Amino acid sequence: MIDIHSHILPGIDDGAPDIEASLDMARDALDQGITHVIATPHHRNGTFENEKSSILEQVYRLNTRLTEEGLPLTVLPGQEIRIYRSMVQDLEQLLSLNQTGRYLFIEFSFTRVPNYTHELFHEMLVKGYVPVIVHPERNTELLENPELLYEFVEQGALTQVTAGSLLGDFGKKTKSYTQELISHDLTHFIASDAHNISSRRFCLREAYDEISRQFGSSKALYFQENAYSLTEGSAIYSELPVPIRKRRLMGIF
Ligand SMILES: [Fe+2]
Repeated sequence: MIDIHSHILPGIDDGAPDIEASLDMARDALDQGITHVIATPHHRNGTFENEKSSILEQVYRLNTRLTEEGLPLTVLPGQEIRIYRSMVQDLEQLLSLNQTGRYLFIEFSFTRVPNYTHELFHEMLVKGYVPVIVHPERNTELLENPELLYEFVEQGALTQVTAGSLLGDFGKKTKSYTQELISHDLTHFIASDAHNISSRRFCLREAYDEISRQFGSSKALYFQENAYSLTEGSAIYSELPVPIRKRRLMGIF
């Protein structure tokens, strides 16, 4: 199993504070049946700056240590980038997921979606980069206005929901919205976004079990195949998205 979103690198953001914590997280991932994780440290989120070169160095070091410890987990490089207006000028300097030059993790703040987002995504797509919006279910504006997310997906962006959101770790509204995103084919990946081994852990196995139970095993397989394709830099298979109507969403809440 591949987990495409994690904060397993030691001491560089709000994930693992040190190498021992990274190794504990690696053991947790292996217990879940995860073989590969993409390390996606925060970048330009107002608190953390993690440049490509230092992430690549840290990934190399952690893989070396994992081998020494006999832990059969492979860490791949990535970056969780807070959206900013001029990022299209920096695409070469930013770190695409597993360095394939194709998929970039884009994070919004928890409350807003900038009004330049459509334009930025268009410019990225023209240059051959695919924006992958991380945890849209945790953004207030997208929660209240699901049609905006639909527009981004229609435009060619992909989305990744967080395993804990589906499991109810962030409350009922977030869980309901996550279920809606899955049932309306508005999301393409599920990942742990693990930060530790307690409150924000690698709960991917539980999430896939939940997806199989609620949506059928073919949906779980769909997400797993997409995670593999993303790490390979190959095309993602996606169903045609279906808009979520506000009225219907309000009824669920
Ligand atoms: Fe994250």
